[in-house]
Amino acid sequence: MKSPAAKSPQVLTTRAELRAAIRAAAPASLGFVPTMGALHSGHEQLFRQAREENQLVVISIFVNELQFNDQQDYQRYPRDLQADVQVAARAGVDLVFAPAPQEVYHAGTPLIRLDSGALGRMYEGASRPGHFDGMLAVVAKLLHYADPGQGHYRAYFGQKDAQQLVLVRRMVADLDYPVQIRAVPIVRTAQGLALSSRNALLSQRQATAALVIHRAIELIAGRAARHEPLYLEDAVGLFQMEPEVELDYFVVVDPDTLQELAFNCQDTPFTGQGLILVAATVGGVRLIDNQPI
Ligand code: PAJ
Repeated sequence: MKSPAAKSPQVLTTRAELRAAIRAAAPASLGFVPTMGALHSGHEQLFRQAREENQLVVISIFVNELQFNDQQDYQRYPRDLQADVQVAARAGVDLVFAPAPQEVYHAGTPLIRLDSGALGRMYEGASRPGHFDGMLAVVAKLLHYADPGQGHYRAYFGQKDAQQLVLVRRMVADLDYPVQIRAVPIVRTAQGLALSSRNALLSQRQATAALVIHRAIELIAGRAARHEPLYLEDAVGLFQMEPEVELDYFVVVDPDTLQELAFNCQDTPFTGQGLILVAATVGGVRLIDNQPI
């Protein structure tokens, strides 16, 4: 299913306008992609998959203050609606919802919060307290706003943010949201660096050093594919050879629960399924990556 021609999407700023536009389209299927803007080819891949699978494609661009634990980080987050709308147009997006903060948090800071539980305090949650609760707060709202109320409703999230994806799936299941969550594989540079809006903050040298993340993943994923022992300490060793890159964690976890696989990861042959999760900091820029094995 494809819309007739690649034309500029309609940009809407209020919930009422968004609802009216979705009602008017009365789509048999709607694909929704929430984003914070600063769109790159990673986001574009989500739009394209939504375009292929749905009659109407809606994206949101909203920098959600609630999920930033650092006010400066929030203020500095890149915002360029015009450039973002161009990316959306290229990918065949129909509607762009770009609300002001007061439109989303119209009643002020929400009193009633979602709690992402123990899962939300591990890994990324450990270094960014409250991040996942704030992320769920806005995703819960956005999924309501774009709900077509009829036909198929699908929402697209990147595998890049593996923990976010698992938490959104859990929220949708636990709260009975009538939406199917679709995961989209990680988009990387030719050298293997996972695309992220934060990559723009890296110098050329730092970007090269950051490729150790991909090398370490490839090392362990190769062993897993050959059912060899994983010896994760070899991955950690690669990071020690890149002094500019500070490793936070390199773990193999259960893909659904994100619980660390203690068994099976060191000196016994690897069998079954897992997910490599990595986080590292390069010149103060936090990078995450992952790979199913
Ligand atoms: P943002 O960082 O803008 O990302 C929007 C979506 O794009 C997320 O689902 C993310 O996983 C996906 N994405 C980013 N880089 C990607 C890459 N290299 N390959 C594949 N997908 C990629 O994630 C958020 O915004 C926010 O937390 C949000 C869900 C919008 C809630 O505020």
